[in-house]
Amino acid sequence: MKFFVDTAEIDAIAELNELGMVDGVTTNPSLILKSGRNILEVTKEICDLVEGPVSAEVVSLKADEMITEGRKLAEIAPNVTVKVPLTWDGLKACKVLSGEGKMVNVTLCFSANQALIAAKAGATFISPFIGRLDDVNLDGMELIADIREIYDNYGFETQILAASIRTVNHVSDAAKIGADVMTAPPAVIRKLAEHPLTDKGLAAFVADWEKTGQTIL
Ligand code: E4P
Repeated sequence: MKFFVDTAEIDAIAELNELGMVDGVTTNPSLILKSGRNILEVTKEICDLVEGPVSAEVVSLKADEMITEGRKLAEIAPNVTVKVPLTWDGLKACKVLSGEGKMVNVTLCFSANQALIAAKAGATFISPFIGRLDDVNLDGMELIADIREIYDNYGFETQILAASIRTVNHVSDAAKIGADVMTAPPAVIRKLAEHPLTDKGLAAFVADWEKTGQTIL
């Protein structure tokens, strides 16, 4: 499973990248707002840091304008992935931009049919939003499973990018189903390493080691 980081915070991306945890980055208008940065400048900085796909989202609602914005975003660096919403206009933009050889991430996907139609429009990535479905008492993981089954039935190459990940269980569940990629905030990625029995076991080892009176160095 590829790990994307869902943030526009450069320091957090750099820290995880040094550990080899960053196969790509996703941003959206809300994350750009949170960062307080200019979208063009911060996207360039992220692309200089990370080799993999870096999603930058268009903000227009009309296909023609999305295409113009997408072309401008794609000029920033070869690893920019243009993110478009899963609307009819977004699909038109996806078709044109992917036809030009640009990577396209179709976002705000909440149904298997939306994922099917995005694949037909040439999406490189489809982003089903797990957490936001869970928020309204629907099963985000069931959507990931449905998309996996449909894409495998027909050999679609569009990659399933599990998005709106809120918990560590979302990560392992999406991995078990076979999502190609997951994107999560830095805090969730850090939590993947945590376990209370690890902490308890380590505390006991440290205490026993002190009693030996030994040193290694
Ligand atoms: C990623 O591409 C999405 O923008 C992001 O995962 C949304 O997450 P949220 O629902 O926690 O805002």
